[in-house]
Amino acid sequence: MQADRESFLKMILKNMGRGKVCVEVGVMKGEHAKMMLDILHPSKLILVDLWRSRPEAEQETRTLFAGNPIIELIKDNSENVNIGPVDFVYIDTFHNKPAVERDLNHWWPQVRKGGWMTGHDYGMVPESPMFIEVEDAVDDFAVRHERFVQTWKNDWLKEWAIKK
Ligand SMILES: C[S@@+](CC[C@H](N)C(=O)[O-])C[C@H]1O[C@@H](n2cnc3c(N)ncnc32)[C@H](O)[C@@H]1O
Repeated sequence: MQADRESFLKMILKNMGRGKVCVEVGVMKGEHAKMMLDILHPSKLILVDLWRSRPEAEQETRTLFAGNPIIELIKDNSENVNIGPVDFVYIDTFHNKPAVERDLNHWWPQVRKGGWMTGHDYGMVPESPMFIEVEDAVDDFAVRHERFVQTWKNDWLKEWAIKK
């Protein structure tokens, strides 16, 4: 699974190149954010999380990225964060349909034309209805905006991507 997430980011890098403004929404302890930093070589990496239920995860993230000038940590609700045009956003917060829809609607206008809105857990576990809600919300959004949804790797825990 880790390898799939890495190869997804490599595919994105190949498409958009280095030196872009990237965002992760839902960071937890920064594991995937570190992958984004190492693989995407962004000019700026903005990490958004509430860190409400896991204070130790916030501390881990702060320690992991301490002193790195291209990293910006924003401790806030995703819906309150307006940072203007970004090239790549990766959404991985709550996975119920209303929460996913809120994130999609909030971040899409902030993605530059030609950029990517992406995320985690598309069609995750058929027996677990909550995760199917990611797929549902992303598909509905794509239809409304007349875009294709691209998914990565044919197992559960799929990465999804919509190009603007
Ligand atoms: C699944 S974890 C993120 C994992 C991380 N993307 C990774 O793969 O390493 C989900 C995170 O989303 C955060 N979160 C949930 N709802 C949020 C919201 N509305 N705004 C900001 N962060 C939120 C939680 O605090 C939690 O740390």
